[in-house]
Amino acid sequence: MPSIVRLADYRPSDYLIDRVALDVRLHPTETRITATLALRPNPAGEPGAPLILDGDELTLLAIALDGQPTGPGAIEVTPRSLTLHQPPQRPFVLEIATQVNPSANTKLMGLYRSNGVYCTQCEADGFRRITYFLDRPDVMAVYTTRIEAERSEAPVLLGNGNPVEHGVAGLTRHYAVWHDPHPKPAYLFALVGGHLGRVASRFTTMEGRDVEIAVYVEPGKEDRAGFALDAVARSMAWDERSFGRAYDLDVFNVVAVSDFNMGAMENKGLNIFNDKYVLASPDTATDADYANIEAIIAHEYFHNWSGNRVTCRDWFQLCLKEGLTVFRDQEFSSDERSRPVHRIAEVRTLRARQFPEDAGPLAHPVRPQAYREINNFYTATVYEKGAEIVRMLRTLLGPETFRRGMDRYFATCDGTAATVEDFLAAFAAESGRDLTAFARWYAQAGTPTVSVTGTHDPAAQTYTLAFRQGLPRVATEATAGAAREPLVIPVALGLVAQGGGQGGGGQGGDGRGSGGHVAGASERVRDGVFVLEAAEDSLVFTGVAAAPVPSLFRGFSAPVKVEHALTRDERLTLLAHDADAFNRWQAAQSLAMEVLAGRARAGAPLADEAGPDGTALTAALATFLDAEALADPAFAALVLTLPGEQEVAQTIAAEVDPDAIWRARQTLRRQLGRDLGPRLLALRDALAEPPGAPFSPDAASAGRRALRNAALDLVAAADPEQGTALALTQLDAATTMTDRLAALASVSLVPGAAREAALARFAETYRHEPLVLDKWFALQAMIPEAGTLDRVRGLMRHPAFSLGNPNRVRSLVASFSLNNPTQFHRPDGAGYDLTAEVVLALDGKNPQVAARLLTAFNTWRMVEGGRRRKAEEALSRVATAPGLSPDVSDIAGRSLA
Ligand code: ARG
Ligand code: ZN
Repeated sequence: MPSIVRLADYRPSDYLIDRVALDVRLHPTETRITATLALRPNPAGEPGAPLILDGDELTLLAIALDGQPTGPGAIEVTPRSLTLHQPPQRPFVLEIATQVNPSANTKLMGLYRSNGVYCTQCEADGFRRITYFLDRPDVMAVYTTRIEAERSEAPVLLGNGNPVEHGVAGLTRHYAVWHDPHPKPAYLFALVGGHLGRVASRFTTMEGRDVEIAVYVEPGKEDRAGFALDAVARSMAWDERSFGRAYDLDVFNVVAVSDFNMGAMENKGLNIFNDKYVLASPDTATDADYANIEAIIAHEYFHNWSGNRVTCRDWFQLCLKEGLTVFRDQEFSSDERSRPVHRIAEVRTLRARQFPEDAGPLAHPVRPQAYREINNFYTATVYEKGAEIVRMLRTLLGPETFRRGMDRYFATCDGTAATVEDFLAAFAAESGRDLTAFARWYAQAGTPTVSVTGTHDPAAQTYTLAFRQGLPRVATEATAGAAREPLVIPVALGLVAQGGGQGGGGQGGDGRGSGGHVAGASERVRDGVFVLEAAEDSLVFTGVAAAPVPSLFRGFSAPVKVEHALTRDERLTLLAHDADAFNRWQAAQSLAMEVLAGRARAGAPLADEAGPDGTALTAALATFLDAEALADPAFAALVLTLPGEQEVAQTIAAEVDPDAIWRARQTLRRQLGRDLGPRLLALRDALAEPPGAPFSPDAASAGRRALRNAALDLVAAADPEQGTALALTQLDAATTMTDRLAALASVSLVPGAAREAALARFAETYRHEPLVLDKWFALQAMIPEAGTLDRVRGLMRHPAFSLGNPNRVRSLVASFSLNNPTQFHRPDGAGYDLTAEVVLALDGKNPQVAARLLTAFNTWRMVEGGRRRKAEEALSRVATAPGLSPDVSDIAGRSLA
C-alpha cells in the first residue's frame, strides 16, 4: 500500500526554484534532459534541511552544484529521488542531466510518444519522470526550454510560452527555444515534437495583444481542426466578456495526440488534447462530440486564469481550479447554446456519475483530507460537485457580487498557489458575509437529502413549506469521524397554481406564459431563493388563497436529493405550467422514475404496458409534444429520455436487480413508443433535414437531430421491426455521424442478421478511422444481451483494438463495465471477471487507465446478494494480485473497505 498524504500535514517547501532552463535532446529511446535549476532556501521552510528532489523511473547522467561536481557522499540518488544533504543556505544552481525512454513510457505520464509524436503529460506528478525536481504545485518557476531533435523526425517543436529562437543543430538536427515569462508549477510544463499539420488564426485581446492561435493535428487531418480552432477564439472572447480575463502570451497552441489518459491538459500556452476532443467533421463526429470539443477547448483555455495564473497550493486544492473551471465551461456552453438544455445535461451527468460516487465506497469530500494516489482524485466529485459549489455561491451572493468576488480572487491571488480558503475569502470580503458554514460543502462527503412537506391553511391563506436536511454518513476513511453539520443550501423556488390556472403576481411565483403563478409572498425568499441553513426550517407564504404546487430547487439550485411527495397530478401541473424549464423536465423525470422504480422493485416482468402511471405519463407527454416539440426540439428530446438504468439503481439503492431495472425501462419505453408512435413519426417527418441542406453543428440543428433520434428510439422499442426498417433507411441516407450512429444504435438492439450486416458495413466504411471505430466498439459493448460478453472478448482481438490506447480501452471495455449494467452485473459474475481480468492486464502498462476502469465496481455493495458476492470475489482477486500499481491498489482497497 502506498503511503498516505494528508492535508493536515501540509508545510511549505524548504527550497524554492526561481528559474528553470531545460535542454531536451529528443530521441526515441534515449532522450537526454539537462535541467539548470536556480534554487534558494525558502524563508518559510526549515533552515538547513536537506534538498529532496522527486524523481520517477529516472536515470541520472550527471550533476553539478554551482558548476562543480558534487563531492563524494554529498548526494544520494535513487530512481525516485535525489537528495542533496547539505545544500547551500543561499541561492545556488543545480545542473542535472537525466535520460529517459519515451518509447517505453506506456503510463503516458512524463515524456512519451504517441503515434511517433513526442509529447508530455505532467499533471499531477509527471514532471518528475523528466528530471529530478521539487514536483509540487507551490514551487513556481520561470521556464526556458530548448528542444532539439532530428528534423526528419520532429519538424515541429513546441514549448510553453512564446517562441524565442530556432535554428539548425548540425547536419540533420534542429532546435527551438521557448520562454514562458509566467512563473508556473512543474505540472504545467509541456513540450511537443513531431510531424504535425497545423491550422491557425489570430485573435486580438481586449488589451490589444495580437495572439496567434494554432491547432496541431495528425498531418492530413487539418480539415477536422477548424471547429476546435474557432472554439478557442470564442472562448477567448467569452472570458473577456464574462470575467474580464484576457490572454497573456503571443501564441496559444493546441496539440491533438491519440494516446492520452484523460480529456486534455491546460499546460501554459500549449494545451495538449486527446484527439477525440479536437478532431471533428460531419462524417466522423456526432453532435455530442462537437459539444464536448467546444466545452473542453473552453475548459482548458479558461484554466489559463483559473489554474495557471492562480494555481493550487497542494493537490488537496484540486477543486479550486477544476470545480471553478468546470463551472466556467458550463457557463460558456450555456451562453453559446441553450441554457436550460445545458443545465439538464449537467445535472444528468452529475446524477449519473457523481451521485453514485458519493453514495459508494469511493465517496470523498470535494476537498479530500487524505490520499494515497492523487491521480485517483480527478473525480466527478472534485470536478462536477466542485462546480456545483461555485454555482451555489453565485446563487447565494447574486451575479454582481459573485463577479466582484471573482475579480477580487484573481487580483489578490494572481501569481500565487492558492487554497479554497483564499477563494472563499475573496467572496466574504466582497459580500460582507461569513462563509464559514458554506465552506462545509468542501469538507463533507455524501449527497445531502432535503425533505419537504407543504401545508396549506385556507382560513389563514397561508402556505407553509417545512424543510429538513440530512447528510448520509459516508463510510470511507477520508471522512470517518468528520463532523456532519448542516449545509447552506440555496433553494430556488416558486409556487405554481394547481392545474395551472391563472393566478395573480407576487413574490412566490413567476408563472409561465399565460398562467401558472400564484400570489403568495415570503420575505425570506429573495430573488426567488430561500436559503436553508439549519437542519430544519420552514417557510410561510402569506396571501395564498388556494393550495399551490411548489416548484422547488429550480434550475437544480443545489446538488441534493429532494424528497418531496407530490401527487401525479401535481407533477403533471409542473410539467405543463412551471416557469422553470429545468423543473418541467424534472417533473417528467420524476413521473417516469416512480413508474420505473415501482416496477423494478416489484421485479415485474417485461410487458407492453407500464400500468396506469405509465398511461398518465404518455398522455401528458402527448400534450406536451403537440404544443411544444417543434418549438424546442432539444428540450423535447430530453423530456422524452427516461432516467437511465444507473439512476434508477441509485433510487432503489439496496438489493438492486439490474435486470429488473432494464425490464422496467424497456416496458416503459415500449409503452411510450406505442402510445406516442404516430406523433413521433410525424415529428420525424416534420424535422427531416431538407435534401442537400448544409451541415451545421449548432445547438438548434443538433436539437432537431436529437428529437428525431429520440423518436426513432421509442418507435423501435415498441415495434422493433418497424424501427429496424426506419433505422436501416436512415443509415443509408444519413449525412451526419449523429444520424448514422443513432440508426446503428437502434439496429444494434435487435438481434439478427440485419444487425450483424449493418455493424460489419459500418466497420468496413470506417476502417481507417480509429475515433469512429471507438463508437462502433462502444455501441456493441453496450448491447444488453448475454452474448455481449463474448462479443467484447472477440472485439478485444480486433486489429483496431489495443490495450495500449486509452481511447480504445474506454470505448470497448469501460463502455461494457460502466455503461452496460445488465451485462457487467451478470448473475454468473462473468462481467465482473472480464473487468477484473482487463484491469490486471492493463495495470502493468497504464495504471491510471486501469484504476479508472476498476471504479466500475463502485456500486457493488448495492446489488443483490448473489451478484454482490461475485463482485466482491472479483474485486478481492484484483486487490490481492501481486505487484499492483499504487493507482489500482488504492481503488481496490477503498472499494473493499
Ligand atoms: N487538468 C486536466 C483538466 O483539465 C486534467 C489532467 C489530469 N491528468 C491526470 N493524469 N491526472 O481537467
Ligand atoms: Zn480542468
